[in-house]
This record gives sequence, structure tokens and C-alpha cells, in this order.
Amino acid sequence: MTATGAKATAPSAPAFPQDRTCPYQPPADYPGLAAHGPLTRVTLYDGRQVWAVTGHAEARALLVDPRFSSDRAHPGFPVVMPRAENQSDVEIPLIGVDDPRHSRQRRMLIPHFGTKRIAAMRPQIQRIVDGLIDTMLAKGNEAELVSAYALPVPSMVICALLGVPYGDHEFFESRSRALLAAPTAEEAAEARVELQDYLHRLIDTRQGESGGGLEGILGELVSERLAEGELDRDELVMMALVLLIAGHETTSNMIALGTFTLLEHPDQLEALRAEPALMPGAVEELLRYLSIADGLVRVATEDVEIAGRTIRAGEGVLLATSVINRDAGAYERPDALDVRRSARHHVAFGYGVHQCLGQNLARTEMEIALGTLITRIPTLRLAVAPDEIPVKPADTLQGIYALPVAW
Ligand code: HEM
Repeated sequence: MTATGAKATAPSAPAFPQDRTCPYQPPADYPGLAAHGPLTRVTLYDGRQVWAVTGHAEARALLVDPRFSSDRAHPGFPVVMPRAENQSDVEIPLIGVDDPRHSRQRRMLIPHFGTKRIAAMRPQIQRIVDGLIDTMLAKGNEAELVSAYALPVPSMVICALLGVPYGDHEFFESRSRALLAAPTAEEAAEARVELQDYLHRLIDTRQGESGGGLEGILGELVSERLAEGELDRDELVMMALVLLIAGHETTSNMIALGTFTLLEHPDQLEALRAEPALMPGAVEELLRYLSIADGLVRVATEDVEIAGRTIRAGEGVLLATSVINRDAGAYERPDALDVRRSARHHVAFGYGVHQCLGQNLARTEMEIALGTLITRIPTLRLAVAPDEIPVKPADTLQGIYALPVAW
């Protein structure tokens, strides 16, 4: 750790984010960032420089520090890609707001994502997973695993939890992808408005049905929170939109990339097959190792000293989770995938007040989806060479577009 700031800025602040070449490894230049860490400078696409945190202890301290804001409307909030430009008038509930607004919104949802509630969903998740594997097996001896499995599992689960009809999945999946990967702010806004309109229509139609046809979290938000004036309709729709997108895009990347990573580490896969009780720990390790949300974003609201350097009020900060989760000060042999290690305290779900609301659900889905897949299809293998697997670009959730497999 630097006491004087002498280990100053890297000679030239490297670009951030950068594309991964291997989908389960950080981009080639990121370990270099760590060498200038735990706090260094990076350059965004538009030439502006911001801070990047690479140290594990510093990241966890920063993520619980109320002097850092998640509010996209803050003038200093770092714009990391073109589609996030001029978005300060669009409030993103939970992930993009500070207290007291944040805790008010989060309190409404916490009961739906608690350990007991999610544990009660296990049989339903297992049925969904088994049904999809039955279909794959019935069709022959090969499949494209993203579309046949990794995407439908979390999509079906979030639909059930939220009260959104899965029959509409092609629409909301394609619009979510567009929102998370649009090249311009206009295209991202178009996708967002289509999703908002869809959710508004769903509420209108279902409310019109006799007996109130809205189910799940959406039903509860409408019948209790909206009715009691705790939420207005637009805020409610944006909360549902965040849950719908976060609920399927994230976990689907983890299931697909997690499967690919295990296939590329046959000793680890064998250990898991031989000892299924390792699965919960393996899920933590995959979360750490893959760090698919690779670049959390904050802005300082006051001057803050970290690692001997001062982040000034109004300056932006990025947290490179793929580097933080491989900090040699926090994990032994950080670059090794080891399903037997205790990977707890990773920041793949963030940390502090914004720590992933859906983490219990995501863990349960990954555990059941990965565990059932490797048990029911023991001969699962890649159907193409590993370097033919298409990798997602840096400016979105990390993952792979397709995973051709055979058995
Ligand atoms: C493996 C899958 C997932 C990963 C890696 C992941 C990752 C994250 C991360 C890193 C954050 C913190 C963002 C920040 O601090 O700026 C977050 C927040 C959040 N996640 Fe997840 N997530 C996953 C699955 C889910 C699921 C299944 C849901 C469920 C609906 C969900 C809902 C949310 C919400 C609502 C927030 C905002 C929480 C807040 O600001 O209070 N996530 N997630």
C-alpha cells in the first residue's frame, strides 16, 4: 500500500474497459493495472480519466463508504460507454440511487429475495432445469447451450417470481439484450421505453381481469405498494424492469460461462462430479473467477483518501471486479480455478448497501443448473474448438454468445 502517493499514476492510464480474449480470464492488460494499484488511473472511451480500484481490501472499504454515490444524475458520474450518455434524467431504481431513496426501494423487495423464500423455490427451479434437460436429450446428442438452457433457466425463474408471462420471453430477452449492449444512447433508450410500455400494458391488462390477474412481485407491488401510495406507477415499472433484466441476463451468463469454464478445467469438473457437496463452494469460486459484472461505477461526493491518494469530490471511480477478485493479498493462487477453496468475500455481487439483491436466487439457480447438467449429462463436451466460442465485448456483462455442446 502506498503511503505517500509516490507509486503514482501508471505512466499512461490504460483504456477501460477492455475486451477479454479468453472469456474466463481478465483482459490481457488488467493485471498490469493491478501492478499500479490498489488505486490507479484509467482512460474512458471519450478520453476522460477516472480512478480504478484493483485492491480487494480497498474495494470493500470503498463499497461501504457513504461518501461514494451510485446516482447516475450526479454530474461527475463516470460515463463508461456511449449508451450511458445523457441518462441523468432516467432514474435506475436500486442500483442507480442513493439513500434514502435506495433503502426505501430495497426494503420493499427484500422479503422476496430472502434465503427462506428462495429455498422454497428450489423444487420449482429443479423442475424447470429437468424439463429443459429432458428436451435437450430428446432432441439428440448436441445442443447450443445458451439458447437451450443457460438463458431459459433464469428467464423462466424470474418470470415466475416477478409475475411476468414466460410466453413473452423472446420480446423481453431481445429488448434487454439491446438495452445492455446498444451502441448508442438513443438505441438503449428505445429498448428501455419498449420494456416500460410492455410492463405498463401488462399491469393494465391484468388489472382489468376480474379478480386481479397480476401475480408474483409485480402483483404485490401493485396491490400493496402502489395502492398505498408508497410507489408511483412509473417508479414501480422501472423497479420491475431492473428485476426482469438483472434476473435473467446475469445468471444466464454465469451458467453458460460457468459450464464452459468447467469443461476447460476437467480436473475441477471431475472433482465436482465425484463430490456433489462441493457445488455451493464451486459456485462461489466461479463467481470470483469469472467476475462477469466487471466494472462497478461510483462517484465521490467528498474528498476521500484511499491508499495514500486523494479521490476528490466529483471524481469517478471504477471497480474492476475481475482484478479485485484475483488480488493475491486476498486469495492464494488467485489465477487458479479451485472448487475446493473458500472464495467467500469476493465482490462478484458487489458489497455494501448495493450488494446484489438477487444473490440468493442466483446462487440457487447456478447450483441447481450446473449440478444437474453435469450429473445428468456426464459425457458433456464442447462441440467446437474453445477459441471458436464467441466472447461478449467489454462494455456489457461478460459472457459468451453461444456454447455448442455434444454428449
Ligand atoms: C450471477 C448472477 C448475478 C451477478 C454476478 C450479479 C451482480 C450484481 C452486482 C455486482 C451488483 C452490485 C452493483 C453495484 O454495486 O453497483 C448487483 C446488484 C443488483 N442485482 Fe445482481 N447479480 C446477479 C444476479 C441477480 C439476480 C438473479 C437478480 C434478481 C432479480 C439481481 C438483482 C439485482 C439488483 C436489483 C441489484 C441492485 C441492488 C441495489 O442496488 O440495492 N441480480 N448485482
